[in-house]
Amino acid sequence: MANTILIGSQWGDEGKGKIIDVMTAQADMIVRYQGGSNAGHTVIAEGEKRVLRLVPSGILHEGKICVIGNGVVMNPLDLIEEIRMLRSTGIECRGRLFISTRTQMVMLYHRALDRADEAARPVGKKIGTTGRGIGPAYAAKVSRTGLRCGDMLVPEFPDMIREQVAETNVKLAHLNAEPLDAEELVRTYTEAAEALKPYIVDTVPLIHEADRAGKSILLEGAQGTMLDIDFGTYPFVTSSNPTSGGACIGSGLSPRRIDRVVGVIKTYTTRVGEGPFPTEDFGEIGRTLAERGHEFGAVTGRPRRCGWFDAVVARYAQQINGVDLWAMTKLDVMDTLPEIKICVAYELDGRRIETVPASAKELARCKPIYETMPGWLEETSNVTSWDQLPEKAKAYVSRLVELSGGKLGILSVGPARESTLRIAL
Ligand code: GDP
Ligand code: IMO
Ligand code: MG
Repeated sequence: MANTILIGSQWGDEGKGKIIDVMTAQADMIVRYQGGSNAGHTVIAEGEKRVLRLVPSGILHEGKICVIGNGVVMNPLDLIEEIRMLRSTGIECRGRLFISTRTQMVMLYHRALDRADEAARPVGKKIGTTGRGIGPAYAAKVSRTGLRCGDMLVPEFPDMIREQVAETNVKLAHLNAEPLDAEELVRTYTEAAEALKPYIVDTVPLIHEADRAGKSILLEGAQGTMLDIDFGTYPFVTSSNPTSGGACIGSGLSPRRIDRVVGVIKTYTTRVGEGPFPTEDFGEIGRTLAERGHEFGAVTGRPRRCGWFDAVVARYAQQINGVDLWAMTKLDVMDTLPEIKICVAYELDGRRIETVPASAKELARCKPIYETMPGWLEETSNVTSWDQLPEKAKAYVSRLVELSGGKLGILSVGPARESTLRIAL
C-alpha cells in the first residue's frame, strides 16, 4: 500500500477511526499529525468498542507501529490513561507507540484556560470547545512558550513548569479563575514524565527509515476540513490544520512522499459545538439521523447537530485536500427515509453560490438549495458487496460522488469492521 493521508471532510466524527482501523490491515505505520484529546475515534473490533483520543486508531492491529506526530498537542495525563485503558483490554502500547520529542504538551493550565475563556465568551461568541485545552496549547506553541515532550527528558523540566505556571496565573487572575499550585503540577508532571519516557523519541528518523524501507505509512487526521483553522468556519473551528496539508507539517514526512488522500465523509452531515451549519435540520429528519446514527459526542457526550449531505462542503473538501478516494460512511442510517435531500448549492442574499463563503456570518445566512432523491427503504447493514445494494441506494451514493468529485473507495454500512464494502481501496 502507498503512503496515504486520511482526513475528515466535514465537521469531524465522519467515522475516521473505523476507516483507519479497516485500512490499517494494509499499512505498517499509522501517524496522528494534529489535534489532541479533543478527538474521539471509535473503533469496534471483535465486538469490543474503544474510543481513541490520542493513540492512532491502528493500535488494535498487532505489530503495527503507531506514532504521535509533532503536530499533535498531547496531554500526558490523558495519554497515560489511554495506554492503561488499552492495556486493560489486552493491547500493549510499549514498543509500538512512539511520541515525537517535538510534540507540544497540553497542560492542566491549558485546560483551565480553555474553560475560563469559553465561560467568559458571551452567548453568540462561544465556540463550544471540547474543553480539552486544545486552543490554549496551540496558542502557547505559536507564542513560543509551549513545553514539548522532549522537555520531559531534560533536568530543567520542573523549572520550566514553574515558569509556565507563574505566567498562567497572571492570565487566570484576569479571567477571575483560581490560581494553580506550581509544586503540585511539578509533582504531577515529573511522575507523568517517568511513565512516558520510554515512548518519547525523535520520530523524524523513525518515519523516514520506515518510508525508505518501503513500508506503508497512514497519516491519521483528526477533526475535519470545516474545523480547520484556515479553511473552516472561522472562528468556530479548532486550532490546527486537519486538512491534508497539515499531515506533512505535523509528521515531518515530505509532501513528495505522499501517494494519495482518502476523505472520510458521512452520507449526511453532523456538527458538534457552535457555528454555522447550512443543512442543519431542527425537525423530524434531524432527530431520525441523530437517533439512528447514535450521534452523541464520543468525547463529551454532547448531542450532535444533524442534517442532509452538503455537496458544497464535499466539493470544497475535495479541492483543499485533493481527495482521490472517498470513504463514505453510515449509509445504513438512511435506510428508513422515504425521501433524501442533497444540498447542491446555497442561496446567499438572493444569489446562487456553489462555494463555501469565507465568512461564518455569510455562511450562516446561506440557505441550502436541495435536490431530492427517493429513499430505498431496505436494510443495508448486512450488505457485503456493491452489487447487493438496493438500486436506489447505489444511485444516491453515485450522485454524492458525482457532485463531490473524486472516486468512491470504501462504503461503510455499519460501525463494525465487517460492515465495509471495499470498492477501490
Ligand atoms: P471519528 O471521530 O471520525 O472517528 O468518528 P466517531 O467515532 O466520533 O463517530 C462515528 C460514529 O459512527 C462511531 O460511533 C462509529 O462507531 C459509527 N460508525 C462508523 N461508521 C459507521 C457506519 O457505516 N454505520 C453506522 N451505523 N455507524 C458507523
Ligand atoms: P474527531 O477527531 C467533532 C469541535 C468542537 C468545537 C470546535 C473547537 O472525533 O472528529 P476544540 O476543543 O478543538 O478547541 O473545539 O471543534 N471539535 C470536534 N467536533 N469531532 C472532533 O474530533 C472534534 N474536535 C473538536 O466541538 O466546535
Ligand atoms: Mg469523533
